[in-house]
Amino acid sequence: MRWARWVERFWSIAGAVSIRVKVMGIVIGLILTLGAAVTVLLHRGLTTTLERELEERGVAIAVNLASRSQEPVLTDSLITLYTLANETVRNNKGVLYVYVTDRHGQVLVHTFDRGIPEDLLTLPPITAGARHSVVQLHTETAVVQSISAPILSGRAGAVHVGISTSEMQAIIAGHIQRIVAITSAVLVLGGVLAFAVATILTRPLAQLAAAAEAVGRGDFTWRPPRWARDEIGRLGASFARMQERLAHFREELRRHDEARSRLLEQIITAQEEERRRIARELHDETGQSLTTLVVGLTTIAASGDLGAVRERARELRSVAARTLEEVHNLSRGLRPSVLDDLGLLAALERYLNEYGVSHGLAVDLHARGLDGQRLPGPVETAVYRIVQEALTNTAKHAHATAVSVLVERRDGSLHLIVEDDGRGFEVDGVLAAQDIDRRLGLHGMRERTALLGGSLTVESAPGHGTTIFVEVPLASARG
Ligand SMILES: Nc1ncnc2c1ncn2[C@@H]1O[C@H](COP(=O)(O)OP(=O)(O)O)[C@@H](O)[C@H]1O
Ligand SMILES: [Mg+2]
Repeated sequence: MRWARWVERFWSIAGAVSIRVKVMGIVIGLILTLGAAVTVLLHRGLTTTLERELEERGVAIAVNLASRSQEPVLTDSLITLYTLANETVRNNKGVLYVYVTDRHGQVLVHTFDRGIPEDLLTLPPITAGARHSVVQLHTETAVVQSISAPILSGRAGAVHVGISTSEMQAIIAGHIQRIVAITSAVLVLGGVLAFAVATILTRPLAQLAAAAEAVGRGDFTWRPPRWARDEIGRLGASFARMQERLAHFREELRRHDEARSRLLEQIITAQEEERRRIARELHDETGQSLTTLVVGLTTIAASGDLGAVRERARELRSVAARTLEEVHNLSRGLRPSVLDDLGLLAALERYLNEYGVSHGLAVDLHARGLDGQRLPGPVETAVYRIVQEALTNTAKHAHATAVSVLVERRDGSLHLIVEDDGRGFEVDGVLAAQDIDRRLGLHGMRERTALLGGSLTVESAPGHGTTIFVEVPLASARG
């Protein structure tokens, strides 16, 4: 739990700064850590090595002096002993002092100018049998290694040599200074490099971010500048492609919308047109006939001659029969009742028969997989209207000799194929033409199919007839 809080706090800080600051932070942090580690390790290693070396040298000097002091101490010649001590100080760099004690610990000679310091005399004596002993002394000016060596195994006293560690400290300090200087230089260089690299890396990213924001606002004008072909370059390129496709889709959507609203307008106009036609037909044909009937019946009512009445009634009956026929035709044209009563197949059969007769064309109808079952209402209506429109086109444009219609229920879909052997046409050109007001037929068929979640394909080429394929899913068809 605590860890999670720490991680969260870390990210709230690290996540808030820019990538450039992150990269620079990582580089500077690494250099500092490395510099500190090298400094600490070097300091430890140098101190250990140099201290051991210094001690070895001190021990060698002390042992050598002890062996040369045997004779002067035994013969009590203090002058010789003093000269020996002075020479040792003079000839060995770093040796601060030398003093010689007898076997009771009394100082025989020393090289101090102003008497031997008190605390040297309180140092513990060499343990019996030891070849030498080393003690570290901290004076005001330096750290001193005091090394003692026995003369004749201690029976004739001991020599004591003091060596300063200042030189050693100076060497170590010099090394450390160099490391710090190098680390600082690398730090400056690394900082500058990290800044440059982060700038190079983040600039395209910042541009991409700006481009993405622009796309979010619906502005697709951004073009990727020339970048290296690395990951960011690829990202930029695919972003540009994505943007182009988005722009393309938007344009397509806009055109679709436009086409659809014009189609809707056309449909409404066509509907009004149809109403006007029906109104005219009712008024001109049916109305006239009914007027004739009313006038005729009035005459009959006023007539006294039975023969004339019979004659007139026959005439009126044929007028009434004609009117009935007209109303029948009108209603069937509006919506064939057989489609509602007997289903798609029966309606198509009747329509194709009439069509074949009135246009003098060989028409055949095949049905598969329907087994007398009814289809959803919207599907039946759509398929019926599509066949009607396709066959009207064939009659109007194709100059065909034969037409065939296939309706098949397969794999949960209804498939419709209408094929003629007419002169065909350039499908893409016709469908892409801007004057869609005059292409209501093909677009209307497509819209009807799309409304049912299906698809429509037109296959045609000049001189090769026309085939229309429609597929409508039955499972998802509403109704
Ligand atoms: N079966 C066909 N044979 C030849 N040309 C056709 C056929 N169906 C359609 N066309 C061509 O496609 C055009 C568009 O048809 P359509 O959208 O139904 O509009 P319209 O029938 O009102 O002209 C027609 O004008 C015609 O040139
Ligand atoms: Mg048409």
